[in-house]
Amino acid sequence: MTEIFRMNEAQPRLLDETRQGLVGKPLDRPEGPKKVSGRARYAAEGLPEDAAHGVLVRATIAQGRVTGFGHDAIRDIPGVITLITDDRLLRNPAQGMAGAAPCQPGSQVFYHGQPIALVVADSPETARDAAHRLPVSYDAGTAITDPATKSAQHSGEPETSGDFNAAFADCDVTVDATYTTDAQVAAAMEPHAAIADWQGDNLTLRGSLQMLRFNRDELADSLGIDPAQVRILSPYIGGGFGSKLGIGPEAVAAAIAAREIGRPVRVVMSRQTVFDAVLRRTETTQRVRFGATGDGRIRAISHDDLVSNAAGEEFFEPVSQASQFLYGAEGLSFTQTVATISRTPSGSVRAPGEAVGMLAFECAVDELAEALNLCPVDLRLRNIPDTHPMTGQAYSAHGLADCLRRGAEQFGWAERGAPGARVEGDWRIGMGVSSAARKSMLVQSAARVRLLGDRAVVETDMTDIGTGTYAILGQIAGEMLGLPISSVEVILGDTDLPGASGSGGSFGANSAGSATFLAAKKIRATIADKLGCDPAELHLQDGIARGGNVERPLADLVDGEIVQEAVVAAGDTSKSHLSSGFGAHFAEVAVNQWTGETRVRRMLGVMAMGRILNEKTARSQALGGMIWGIGAALTEAVEHDPRTGHIVTRDLANYHVPAHADVPGDMKVVFLEERDDMGNPIQTKGIGELGISGAGAAVLNAIAHATGARVRNFPALPDRVV
Ligand code: MOS
Repeated sequence: MTEIFRMNEAQPRLLDETRQGLVGKPLDRPEGPKKVSGRARYAAEGLPEDAAHGVLVRATIAQGRVTGFGHDAIRDIPGVITLITDDRLLRNPAQGMAGAAPCQPGSQVFYHGQPIALVVADSPETARDAAHRLPVSYDAGTAITDPATKSAQHSGEPETSGDFNAAFADCDVTVDATYTTDAQVAAAMEPHAAIADWQGDNLTLRGSLQMLRFNRDELADSLGIDPAQVRILSPYIGGGFGSKLGIGPEAVAAAIAAREIGRPVRVVMSRQTVFDAVLRRTETTQRVRFGATGDGRIRAISHDDLVSNAAGEEFFEPVSQASQFLYGAEGLSFTQTVATISRTPSGSVRAPGEAVGMLAFECAVDELAEALNLCPVDLRLRNIPDTHPMTGQAYSAHGLADCLRRGAEQFGWAERGAPGARVEGDWRIGMGVSSAARKSMLVQSAARVRLLGDRAVVETDMTDIGTGTYAILGQIAGEMLGLPISSVEVILGDTDLPGASGSGGSFGANSAGSATFLAAKKIRATIADKLGCDPAELHLQDGIARGGNVERPLADLVDGEIVQEAVVAAGDTSKSHLSSGFGAHFAEVAVNQWTGETRVRRMLGVMAMGRILNEKTARSQALGGMIWGIGAALTEAVEHDPRTGHIVTRDLANYHVPAHADVPGDMKVVFLEERDDMGNPIQTKGIGELGISGAGAAVLNAIAHATGARVRNFPALPDRVV
């Protein structure tokens, strides 16, 4: 067994000393040409010749029990092979990392749209037709579908520091505001899909999944088999955003069906099924209270929220996660209430917690600034704490103040003027700001690096959900081994390879990147040994190894190959220090005075997110996050039918993610130079979710500044703005 490296103390900044210049460079993704030419094989592609097709049947009640299927009605349709009504299908989608998925015993239905059966046929069209025609009988119960229903709500214990009530009562200026956010979805471009293929008792599943090491356990658990019998392949993923963290019904159903009929089975979800049966982000109601002295020192902070989930689910949206450490106060208090209701289960969607929590929290900060008659940037700058106000932990690298100052200067914040003062024809113009914060994590991750003379191969079951994993792992290995990027191959997305963190929670680059780094570092030690020099003196560049006064081509030093594997995991520094990305978002909007339509005119995000591994893919992540912020602020809302909890907005025409026309050409991202010495051995921080955290609040604060009025129900649809 390879020993686990635990991050227990600050590590040398080796990637700054190697000076190859590969790490950080805005390199193209190596898999890009394959993707744009259709040669990258996604989950639903490369169908085995004898494959059958499955279509999921979804419940049309919100609560109750399935009492029967009218199998006879579809049995004789030409091409129909079988109907799978296995109870194992009634599991909710796994949430990722738990190793299991909640089971709904006894044919129970917990929400409208829940997968309850699979029709298998020779063609997708026949399977879909038969699934539509299949009669299902139910014993329907009474469903609670509204999270406002008091009897469905359960409150947790408040998390506190100091005495919030006493501090709040004693403040000169207070804000007490309640906000709502509608439910959202991940809306990944590639729908969930799986191809299951059994070889005897062993299953190979091609899927679109974010965390393969965990997904293998979840799938084995769902099927009741040993994880060693399961291999998952997921080399390319058309977007995940949390929706593919855990194993889903498409994979479980395909595996059960393939076993039963003795042929490979493919299940591809329709877009409507993705909306119905894939975890959504909960709607929220959030009460935020701030108390401050007249000169703008915050003394009391409280953020209480109401979220929902389905029965049997343990996940809750950590709404106040960033509220707990962004600003300091004497009294802080955070309480969460969860309503157990019959809606599609909720789970992680990009930046679970911050993405919606900061919409409310950062708008409330602006409301406090208005009440104090203070500049919102100044108010934030005055209240940045020295240590975590709840836990007392030290921060690792803390760039919030620099981001706010740099952003204000670059955005032209000084020109902002009074609320409601700037009018251009039909449009009112405003500027808004928000802080950004998102915790950065290290999750156990393994990688193997092979040096074969003048080229190297990186192998891990890590995934690339479109974020640039292939590029950054190649850059780290190339940097460490002194090889050009064209000489490093990265192989991902196969559970037969060393188990990585997977892509989730913005920890993928930190974790898989560190494992790759440590494996390459071990190879460097072997090379130094062969060269007869101290590893600290070794310099590798362009395929040449230098150490002391010796210089030799790398290829001559390697007899066959040098193989090293490394495992990294969080250690003491994750307890002693809080690693978080920080940033500041700025937005300028135009609001139509008559229709309430909001157009974002320009945005700037200044971010301090540790070492940047690839300037291009990091920028794309930050921009993508900011665009999500526009959607959260203005358009994205899952609407439920109040009678059944049925999702009404079940496609991308009715669920409005920002399209090109909604996104301004003037979107800028600035990265501040930063190293996080406490988070992981490569001094990075998580990137994927910081861009969305706070971005929508900057847009919403800009609307308030443009119109002089506050919208507190998000998204700020035109009828809510007017
Ligand atoms: Mo992320 S919501 O953990 O993919």
